[in-house]
Amino acid sequence: MCFVGGMILFLLSWSVWAEPPMPGDYFTAPNLEDIPDDKYGDMVRWGRNIFINTQEYGKRYVRNGLNCSNCHLAEGRQPYAAPMWAAYGKYPMYRNKNRSVVTLHERIQDCFKYSMNGIAPTLDTPELEALVTYMHWLSKKAPIGVNMPGWGFVPITASREPSAINGDIIYRTQCALCHGQDGKGQKFKDGVGYMFPPLWGPDSFNRGAGMNKVRTSARFIKANMPLGAGNTLTDDQALDVALYIWIQSRPDDPRKSWFFNRVGSKPGGW
Ligand code: HEC
Ligand code: HEC
Repeated sequence: MCFVGGMILFLLSWSVWAEPPMPGDYFTAPNLEDIPDDKYGDMVRWGRNIFINTQEYGKRYVRNGLNCSNCHLAEGRQPYAAPMWAAYGKYPMYRNKNRSVVTLHERIQDCFKYSMNGIAPTLDTPELEALVTYMHWLSKKAPIGVNMPGWGFVPITASREPSAINGDIIYRTQCALCHGQDGKGQKFKDGVGYMFPPLWGPDSFNRGAGMNKVRTSARFIKANMPLGAGNTLTDDQALDVALYIWIQSRPDDPRKSWFFNRVGSKPGGW
């Protein structure tokens, strides 16, 4: 009896975990109008500007064409696009990549180094403090040390090896319209900044980035792309197109020399 009850509970909780929760189940970050009108609020507004327009407000530290919000969608609010309100209370956290416990400041440094193909701002940089203040504000009333629903990226399961040939077809039919046949994105008419960000090439994230891991990128794509039609690709299709993007060329991994970026194995593969 107890065993059967346990099994039912197990199956129930498993199905809750396997089905992404409905939008109403996610944490709601505060509204922009509620940013306080004081020094703290000024810092929040500045941090938000850096987050959504890193090209302008964070340009000292950026060497590609991206903004933080190109991947952390909806200004860092979108569930399953690594939202900031879910990240905030998870730090300090142990990370394999760094082989140590990292703070939120250090975690952000890594996105500058790899996702923005740039330079990590030092820990006392005002821009970094502004970003953390923005994240603190977004996380108002969020719990600390909890895996919140919508945290990180959606879980996916592969039923076969991903195929770059399938990925090529998916890319051309479902992604190229916005990101370009050549994957290099589309700039605004005035030539400043991207309307549709590049997925590979010199203005994209580098080989050391989380988005350069086939699995991570597929998990992002699954829930969020094609833009406005998230969750329409199957898990296998998301992996196919992620693999296709992975085999393209992009900036070097800054942790390795020029030579080892050419002859060494490329990080992030399937
Ligand atoms: C090219 C896409 C991309 C861009 C641009 C980007 N990030 Fe990220 N970011 C990621 C990915 C992917 C992860 C998760 C990587 C992993 O841990 O595997 C991540 C993780 C994070 C995390 C930790 C989230 C968590 O839940 O633990 C923070 C904080 C963060 N990024 C901040 C930033 C900031 C600030 C910027 C702009 C300066 C930025 N990111 C730009 C892709 C991006
Ligand atoms: C309707 C236009 C559109 C389509 C179609 C589309 N995307 Fe995107 N994509 C965007 C926009 C816009 C962003 C940046 C979102 C933002 O800044 O809010 C983005 C961001 C991304 C990113 C993260 C940012 C970067 O430059 O690396 C990836 C990866 C991505 N898209 C992959 C895909 C894939 C794969 C497909 C096809 C399955 C696809 N997209 C289809 C518009 C589109």
